[in-house]
Amino acid sequence: MIGIFDSGIGGLTTVRAILEIMPGYDLIYFGDTARTPYGTKSRSTVIRYAIENTEFLIKKGATMIVMACNTASSVATEAIKERFDMPIFEVISPAVALAIETSKRMQIGVIGTRGTIKSGIYEKKILEKADQARVFSTPCPLLVPLVEEGWVKKPETAMIVKKYLLPLKTRQIDTLILGCTHYPILKSIIQQKIGRRVAIIDSSIAVSNTIKTYLDDHPDIEKTLSKEGRAFFFVSDITTQFEKTAEIALKRKIDLTHVEM
Ligand code: DGL
Repeated sequence: MIGIFDSGIGGLTTVRAILEIMPGYDLIYFGDTARTPYGTKSRSTVIRYAIENTEFLIKKGATMIVMACNTASSVATEAIKERFDMPIFEVISPAVALAIETSKRMQIGVIGTRGTIKSGIYEKKILEKADQARVFSTPCPLLVPLVEEGWVKKPETAMIVKKYLLPLKTRQIDTLILGCTHYPILKSIIQQKIGRRVAIIDSSIAVSNTIKTYLDDHPDIEKTLSKEGRAFFFVSDITTQFEKTAEIALKRKIDLTHVEM
């Protein structure tokens, strides 16, 4: 089974992207809603949470792990890969590869939580692959709570998005990486505010393409994954607000099961 975890509900955007290109694969999702957000927490805390989340998914039958959370991917990938002997996917490298492939002028913008931007991981990975690139990063800490409040179409949200993107617009970026689980939900307003000519890279789509290619190249591993079209959704805390956000992220109603961590 493919195990996917996130700090909360936003990672369902990655579930949606995986199901779109790989329908039928059995999935198990864990959203750490009791301890969300990760974006404001220290590196060592996020690493500890990521290890516990992975252990939970493995106990439930996952044989492959997808870290849908950008913040966890930024700081905990090494620790998870060292500790668990199975295919591990993070969302940063696929988004970086796609951004480099897409960008014409190599002026790349990155938005994410404070934790992700502070880690400098996107910059580091972009420059490793394209040292001529110029990377401009901005944390957008208000966007996660706005999505979670369901304020996706409010004018206030549009104003805040505009304000956050202004420095990137001034730098005339040609490509923008959405380095956070929640931002695909705001994609149309982000596109509108940054301008139609800027290519938007959605890390949830990038990682699902990477997983598909990996499974095509590794039939021995692909064979071990069950494909009965089942999906299980676990969360460490449950509220009606989480249920509503889940519906927005996945574009359908789902049953969330509460587990104590
Ligand atoms: N899932 C987080 C991320 O992608 C956003 C929410 C949080 O801060 O926990 O970075």
